[in-house]
Amino acid sequence: MVKIKKFVKDKNIGKEKKPVAGALPASAVKSKKAYNSLRGMHDILPREEKYWKTCFHSAENLAEHFQFGRIETPILEEAGLFVRSIGRGTDVVDKEMYIFEDNDGDKVCLRPEATASVVRAFINHGMFNYPQPVKVWYWGQMFRHDRPQAGRYRQFHQVGFENFGDKDPAADAELILIAYNIYKDLGVPVEIHINSIGNLEERGRYRAELLNYYRGRRAYLCDDCKARLSKNPLRLLDCKETQCQPIKEEAPQIIDWLGEESKKHFMRVLEYLDELAIPYILRSSLVRGLDYYTNTVFEVYPITGEGTAQSALGGGGRYDLLVEEMGGRPTPAVGMALGIERSISVWKQYNDTNKIEMPVKRAEVFFAQLGEQARSRTMKIINDMRKSGLKVGFNFFKNSLKSQLELANNHKIPFAVILGQKEVQDGTAIIRDMESGVQEIVDQKKVESVIKKKLNKA
Ligand code: HAM
Repeated sequence: MVKIKKFVKDKNIGKEKKPVAGALPASAVKSKKAYNSLRGMHDILPREEKYWKTCFHSAENLAEHFQFGRIETPILEEAGLFVRSIGRGTDVVDKEMYIFEDNDGDKVCLRPEATASVVRAFINHGMFNYPQPVKVWYWGQMFRHDRPQAGRYRQFHQVGFENFGDKDPAADAELILIAYNIYKDLGVPVEIHINSIGNLEERGRYRAELLNYYRGRRAYLCDDCKARLSKNPLRLLDCKETQCQPIKEEAPQIIDWLGEESKKHFMRVLEYLDELAIPYILRSSLVRGLDYYTNTVFEVYPITGEGTAQSALGGGGRYDLLVEEMGGRPTPAVGMALGIERSISVWKQYNDTNKIEMPVKRAEVFFAQLGEQARSRTMKIINDMRKSGLKVGFNFFKNSLKSQLELANNHKIPFAVILGQKEVQDGTAIIRDMESGVQEIVDQKKVESVIKKKLNKA
């Protein structure tokens, strides 16, 4: 007989507590209001797991193959980290950051991207002392207070890869190759849009030329572009407004402002892509929305057959000056990040998603039980088998043996272990071959070894 311990009442339960600063008023706690997730933020339900797991495994597999180590940085960082690295005048910093003061009065921010955080970690942990290059990858939530629309969320996920210490064009190509491979694994045809924005001096000279060109056409520009003239002229090239397109098409191209070294670097990256048969488009207007880039910049787009898709699946580039700007030793770097929500959505458009299987194994043995005692014994056996390497299936909600065996059948599980009142008392279990229907009785302690033998896993 199981003894039930006397319930000791918590002294504080039921006592009125003093209100804590910032705590919700009692009325809000009592209200029966149903809450929704915040605008632009989503729940990811179990039915989506197969997509997320497959993407994660593909990224993890590529990371291991190309020797990137996993890094995780906090979601919350000092706001200044992003302001300084991404730069004022960018949409991300000016409009989209989730900034707030924490209880200590510190200005903190939900990370809008992870490159700045990884750079901070690289410096904080003295990674310039590690054998170079230092290659890391991450997977996690990012936050941008953008206007939500298809493919644009306020909380979304990125998988990212960063390489520190390697200035060779091969490092740029390796990152593009990883991005390309992820979509290849998913069966999504993609192409790379690529450009070089040169080094600081080259870009400075180009910016002056661009301003000169655009100022003469100010009257014909949209309001955003008028603001960009003083805030961030390179972003003029990113404008999607129809009225600005003819002006953009005639604008000077940065490639003509590149020096010998930058040009050579860029040409070498393109040669790698040719060699790897990765389709790419040279896009002179590609400048990216973050300020830290130098030389190579690129974005990944699905090939739609109906012109270029609206939004990129991912993007990246070189940021050779950022580590030094953030207080570290001069360290060349290159990286990229892919948006997971957008990638999954495009993947679903390109594939018969019903055929996509979870990358986890199907259960090999199903436990069916009849009655209270059999259920608790079954739970114990299942728990004991946790380290067996066998994948088990069960459903404690269903009481009838018929419906449990139907479940095993529907999931094409080859064997079922059945326990009823009698088996609990005898210490036995029935093992049923689900295909032939043949059953045998075994000692409960031998269930694992018998099943393993049947599955040729002994
Ligand atoms: P990014 O282009 O800002 O680059 O973002 C990369 C990808 O994240 C985008 O192509 C998109 O798929 C996804 N993404 C961005 N914003 C949203 C959003 N609001 N909703 C859904 N998905 C979104 C970066 O973040 C850089 N840190 C990439 C990088 C790494 N550069 C060097 N290293």
